[in-house]
Amino acid sequence: VEFKHKSVLLNECIEQLNIKPEGTYVDCTTGGGGHSLEIAKKLTTGRLICLDQDTDALKAAGEKLKDYKDKITFVNDNFSNFKNIMENLNIDNIDGALLDIGVSSYQIDRADRGFSYMQDGNLDMRMDQSQGLSAWDVVNKYSERDLSDIFYKYGEEKWSKRIAEFIVEARREKSIDTTQELVDIISKAIPKKVRLEMGGHFAKRVFQAIRIEVNKELEVIENVIPDIVECLAPKGRICIITFHSLEDRIVKNEFKKLNRGCICPPDIPICVCNHKKTLKIITRKPIEPSEQEKEENSRSRSAKLRVGEKLK
Ligand SMILES: C[S@@+](CC[C@H](N)C(=O)[O-])C[C@H]1O[C@@H](n2cnc3c(N)ncnc32)[C@H](O)[C@@H]1O
Repeated sequence: VEFKHKSVLLNECIEQLNIKPEGTYVDCTTGGGGHSLEIAKKLTTGRLICLDQDTDALKAAGEKLKDYKDKITFVNDNFSNFKNIMENLNIDNIDGALLDIGVSSYQIDRADRGFSYMQDGNLDMRMDQSQGLSAWDVVNKYSERDLSDIFYKYGEEKWSKRIAEFIVEARREKSIDTTQELVDIISKAIPKKVRLEMGGHFAKRVFQAIRIEVNKELEVIENVIPDIVECLAPKGRICIITFHSLEDRIVKNEFKKLNRGCICPPDIPICVCNHKKTLKIITRKPIEPSEQEKEENSRSRSAKLRVGEKLK
């Protein structure tokens, strides 16, 4: 399978990163390397660190970026290890970082990675294929209560309870092994009339929820933002693209926290937190793709880009 992925908000990200030819940049979600390529083109003596937890993605990016390989260091790791990764590379300060969160079209298109409700594959959904927990474990081992909570919280699925009930019922007979088996169960749990009136595919929200759980997608974003901002040089920028409201809310709130001085509870008379304002928020409202981009690439429709700039 060829690595196909159309980069989202490409020009907007490059513009917002204010790339200095001699600067150090980190692409935390290299994927097929679309954003990385445009960053690399702007560097003279600068350096680009390309992270991805998916070995297939890094292989494809290595190919795409081969003309710039002297400026690039590839690291196959989860960006949640950002601090360690920078320490190991002896980097104290960076001039910008980009996160283009979520799965790539390549991951979705590969049926065998189990991300797609449109194709049949093993229930997997791990972005990092060396990780233990997979979608199979979630679907076959989690309690009914946990499944229902996950579908509700991470999928905003109104039918969460019934879907969880149907899953637990089905797996009493035999384990649920494939994406299509799961799609069939979801389709039985949601009444036909409701399914037909739903915007988008009826299995979309449950698949999103399981993917978030398997890859711990929300936790990693929340935790990495302060680590990246700490590592930014003054005026360095952090650009984050998200694809659904749960992620965008986290980015917005983390940026807000870093944009505040004291965060002591209001009833404490003297500040004990010593929290310093470290981030200027560049995008009060997130940047969204142009109408043209939304038309050309349906995956971009829900994208939101938020940008912050490190203070002195
Ligand atoms: C939307 S794609 C990036 C596409 C890329 N910007 C491009 O233009 O080709 C997201 C990539 O981030 C990776 N990824 C997601 N979460 C990650 C994490 N916590 N650590 C490392 N890589 C991650 C995925 O494996 C995937 O390849």
